Amino acid sequence: MRLTALVRGVVVLLISGLTLFFASKIMDSNVRLNNVKYFLGEVVRPQSSSKIKVASCGMETQCPADHFPFRIMSGAASVVGPSICFNDKVLMSNIKNNIGRGLNIAIVNATSGELLTTDFFDMWTGNVELLLNFLKPIKPGTIVLLASFDDPATKMTDEVRTIFSELGSSLIHNVQFRDNWIFVGAKLIKEKTPFEQILKNDKAKNKYGNWPEAVEMDGCIPRKID
Ligand SMILES: *[C@@H]1O[C@H](CO)[C@@H](O)[C@H](O)[C@H]1NC(C)=O
Repeated sequence: MRLTALVRGVVVLLISGLTLFFASKIMDSNVRLNNVKYFLGEVVRPQSSSKIKVASCGMETQCPADHFPFRIMSGAASVVGPSICFNDKVLMSNIKNNIGRGLNIAIVNATSGELLTTDFFDMWTGNVELLLNFLKPIKPGTIVLLASFDDPATKMTDEVRTIFSELGSSLIHNVQFRDNWIFVGAKLIKEKTPFEQILKNDKAKNKYGNWPEAVEMDGCIPRKID
């Protein structure tokens, strides 16, 4: 009995250790893009090293002054919800109970970082008009943060794809059934966003059978300076 319990304990420890090890490997391989100039068409002021912000949202790296740190995780299969953290605050998560299947979107003020609104849109059986009504009035001077959960695309239309493209997405035309997609964009963005990732649903490669592994990214978004 004792021995069984001991063996079990060792196995659990080994598995936790391995999980942590691989999790850290995956995070290291994520693209870390800092100091992206012109993200909102504004020149970012030179940074003074005395004004470094404390790392937040669980990030390992710190953002320079006049940058908002963020971390976004897509959902994992249809089980674990996505999360969006921005400027040290979790805006959307399972715990906050404000996420759902489809596209989870938070809009923040690009100057102050203030949260303006969050919502989620079912892309499997939902009404795409609701998403269009949410996307069309998005104002200049805002940042759009998005995380998919389960299926991001079944109800997607060309009109929706065009709007995301205008918000800076370069991958939206490739977002299909059960792909994982995370994205940070902005209204009137001058170039394509550097903050975007997709993991294709591919039965031969999926980690979770019918779903790909979750995707995650973090980084520093330049504050819009008027
Ligand atoms: C963002 O916040 C700034 C400063 O508080 C304000 O002047 C501006 O109107 C806000 N913009 C939006 C789009 O909410």
